Amino acid sequence: AFKVQVNSTGETYTVGENETIVEVLEANGIEIPVSCEQGICGTCITRVLEGEPEHHDMFMTDDEHAKNDQITACCSRSKSDVLVLDL
Ligand code: FES
Repeated sequence: AFKVQVNSTGETYTVGENETIVEVLEANGIEIPVSCEQGICGTCITRVLEGEPEHHDMFMTDDEHAKNDQITACCSRSKSDVLVLDL
C-alpha cells in the first residue's frame, strides 16, 4: 500500500493493494476523469508534485516516465510511501 496526498487540501488517503488511485480518490469525493482505465488513453493523467510513481501505462514515453512528474491515476502506483498529486 501507499498513500496519495491531495496538494490543495493536504488530505492523505491510503491506496490498498487491490484498489487504484482513481477509486480511492473517487470514494473521497475527488473525481479524476477516466476512459480506458487500462493505461492506454492518457485521460487520467495527473501531475505529481512529490514522490516516485510506479508507472503501469503504455501511454507515456520512457522519457516522460523518467521525469516522474505525471501519472496515469487509473492504473499506476507508487514506489515511494507517499505521492503528492496536483489536485
Ligand atoms: Fe486511460 Fe487512465 S483512463 S490511461
